[in-house]
Amino acid sequence: MVLHYSRTSPIGNQPRYLASTAVFLVEIVKLVTSLVLAIYDTFNSNPSIPPSQNIQKLYNSLFSPDSWKLVVPAALYTLQNSLVYVAISNLDPVTYQVTYQLKILTTVLFSILLLGKIISSRQWMALILLTFGVAMVQLAEPLNIGDWRERLNSIIQGKPGPVSSTFKGLVAVVAASMTSGLTCVYFEKLLKDSGSQSLWTRNVQLSFFSLFPALFIGVLWKDGAAIGRDGFFAGYNAIVWFIILLQAIGGLIVAVCIKYTDNVAKNFAASFSIVVSYAATTFIFQTPVTLHSTVGGSIVLLALYLYNGHSASHGPVLPTTRERHSEKSSNPMSIQNDNGHKHNA
Ligand code: C5P
Repeated sequence: MVLHYSRTSPIGNQPRYLASTAVFLVEIVKLVTSLVLAIYDTFNSNPSIPPSQNIQKLYNSLFSPDSWKLVVPAALYTLQNSLVYVAISNLDPVTYQVTYQLKILTTVLFSILLLGKIISSRQWMALILLTFGVAMVQLAEPLNIGDWRERLNSIIQGKPGPVSSTFKGLVAVVAASMTSGLTCVYFEKLLKDSGSQSLWTRNVQLSFFSLFPALFIGVLWKDGAAIGRDGFFAGYNAIVWFIILLQAIGGLIVAVCIKYTDNVAKNFAASFSIVVSYAATTFIFQTPVTLHSTVGGSIVLLALYLYNGHSASHGPVLPTTRERHSEKSSNPMSIQNDNGHKHNA
């Protein structure tokens, strides 16, 4: 909502801030934060060795021979983040949020293709329910069939003006959903095949390689002329800086989620947070509770239960990573349930 506001609010004669500059600055914030955390991690895990050795260790892991592998997710994430700006600039927040839920399904598809994840029919049902449930919660107003028919008709008939931008927004959101699924799963595979490489080292590499497409394609090639005319920070205000901070923190949290659980769990958590914030909003601001949002919220909870149900043929999936399983097996506090799955005591 903040992002949508920043892209559509009236600005008078001032130029609007350029999305490419914001995408670039988000990467700078993530790079600096990840570097600080990587330094902290290295020094904290080897307190007894001299600082010079720790610096050498950090240098070796940052410039590891396989760091080039991060080029692919870096380019794709930059593309995804730019597509999100196109989508949110051309769609209303609700349509954007609802259609972006497609990424729940694309993530599962790529998890099957790239990670060999096995999804039972019960879990498929849960995922489809989750997609619908979270879309329902986000429909802030009751569904007005006439409204949707009108929108659909105008898209099909290709009317000019706002309609063509709606179509552009929808294409961008579908492309962003595909990119989200592919990139997150690719990054998960890299992290989990990384051996001793820490999450923050990988994140430094990711942000470093993201700077190049963000700078050369976004800032210089796409918006170079406008920046030359109005300046890099034209249109910047407190809201734009707030968005940069929000997106950087969001990205770092996504990285932690992918490392310690997986992408499907990350999407479940994001969907659940939408339900929680809906409930909090109605409680705090005393907004009326709508029937479809309540039904949507219940469907999300049902989907969570179904996905993790113990009778699912492949067991609980939240959290589920090879790494966590191996952590648990060496953890004396872990116990085994009747299905043979371990849980922390
Ligand atoms: O919508 P989705 O969950 O796919 O968005 C993932 C977001 O997390 C992207 O904006 C991406 O740039 C960010 N990310 C990150 N660092 C990672 C993984 C993802 O900043 N290690």
